[in-house]
Amino acid sequence: MGGQRWWHGATGYEIYIRSFADGNGDGVGDLAGIRSRLDHLADLGLDFIWITPFYPSPGHDHGYDVADYRDIDPLFGTLDEFDALLAEAHDRGLRVLVDLVPNHTSDEHEWFRRSRSSRDDPYRDHYVWRDPAPDGGPPNNWVSHFGGPAWTLDQRTGQYYMHLFLPEQPDLNWANPAVREEFEDILRFWLDRGVDGFRIDVAHSLTEDRDFRDNPLVGPAPAPDAGPREIFIAYDHVHELDQPDNTEVYRGWNAVAAEYDAVLIGEVYLLDPRNVRRYIEAQDGLHLALYLRLAFTTWDARELHELLRLGVDVAGDSLGFAYPVSSHDDSRAPTRMGGGELGARRALAHTTLLAGMPGTLVLFQGDELGLTDVDVPPERYADPVAARNPDTATFSRDSVRTPIPWAPDGPMLGFTTADDAWLPMGDRTPQQSADVQRGTPGSPLERHTALLHARRSLPVLGSDTPPSWLTEPQDPIVAYRRGDVVVAANVSDGDRTLALPDGTWATRFSSLLVAPDHATGTYDLAPAQAVLLQRTDAGQDG
Ligand code: NOJ
Repeated sequence: MGGQRWWHGATGYEIYIRSFADGNGDGVGDLAGIRSRLDHLADLGLDFIWITPFYPSPGHDHGYDVADYRDIDPLFGTLDEFDALLAEAHDRGLRVLVDLVPNHTSDEHEWFRRSRSSRDDPYRDHYVWRDPAPDGGPPNNWVSHFGGPAWTLDQRTGQYYMHLFLPEQPDLNWANPAVREEFEDILRFWLDRGVDGFRIDVAHSLTEDRDFRDNPLVGPAPAPDAGPREIFIAYDHVHELDQPDNTEVYRGWNAVAAEYDAVLIGEVYLLDPRNVRRYIEAQDGLHLALYLRLAFTTWDARELHELLRLGVDVAGDSLGFAYPVSSHDDSRAPTRMGGGELGARRALAHTTLLAGMPGTLVLFQGDELGLTDVDVPPERYADPVAARNPDTATFSRDSVRTPIPWAPDGPMLGFTTADDAWLPMGDRTPQQSADVQRGTPGSPLERHTALLHARRSLPVLGSDTPPSWLTEPQDPIVAYRRGDVVVAANVSDGDRTLALPDGTWATRFSSLLVAPDHATGTYDLAPAQAVLLQRTDAGQDG
């Protein structure tokens, strides 16, 4: 696998910039807010942060509609402020990744303005334009992830442009070498400023079938009142997602990244991890792919056993998976695992299992505080997927994007000095705020900090030593061994006992405060308790 790289065994953290911390009191998070919270991030034991898009944008998809890849939206700050943030993060040993959105731009991007201005404009071919079908309708049956067809007719030039997301997010044409050149230049723009890598949005989605064939239906056609997600999964996306030449694009980027020792983390949103293999196995393109099937895990021992094993099988010795706990697109782990304090306790156990895996761990902001989803009322919806499909049961991503509670005081719990923010604080309590949790024994923040520091202190966890499984898929304890370390979680509601391998095992981390210092033979685990154990006697077999 070409030796140890800095991201192997590292822990990253996703900052959804609008909701992390507001530095200027306008109710929207910004770069100044991130700068003010760097100590929180460094103390937690992180190695890198990934900041979601901060580029100039009309904000229809909250930054994932980029109008200029080489600047900062005034809502979030300035390039000078970004440079200062980068320097201050580096001073604390935190690397910084930015979010690159190569599949589509904003319809307000200069390239698209020019592209739609005339069929003869030199930028026409930067985007995907097709003639109407013979009946005047869209060129094929592809659908947008966010509802409706993936095509919008441009009346002036008489052709349809493609958009796998909103009509305001036209897809770039990756068959055009000029687009490829633009992006290698954009990579260098940020790398020259000192960034340490990129998270790549919808990384499986850049290129499409050259013949633009219809996608087959998986089963019956979706009902007319179906929501966007139901419609989307009704099709087998064989012609516009996961096309063979996506990985070729990343080979070019890999060469650029290598000059800067930068990492490329792809959002390869293919829910069967086996389909992700080709993006990571050769390590000549993306270095890491987010293991996004984990964004849907529940509190189910068999499911966790199977997904962790599958992750190891797929990644092989590439160390090519990044294991996310939660994200800005799907329900938070404590909510998926039952909600409330119980859900948070289970989510910490689940995070412990991920922290022991060979690869990279990625937390989403608020995971360290044990935060669950917030019930955002429909009149406050900002997520275009929910707001534009009001008559369907569409999950609103707003519920995972609400502001972070930092302090016990004020209506917005330290997120902003304003009385409200772009999304509500909801039912978060002062006790959940970072300031109250810091230093409180057993709080989610204190336990996550202990976990990440323990992970750092156990070198085998950052190596390519594969797990050897200590329990079977039908077992309520999920446990594996990597060299001198055992990782175990009791994924059940009863007390359970783990049979330990030979030797004396010291508790290096426990998700619950009560745990023995050492154990031999067996180890008792309370419901939802997870531990990292290290062998302390001389024998290191296994
Ligand atoms: C994936 C991002 O995570 C999501 O938030 C966004 O809406 C889509 N890509 C479109 O860019």
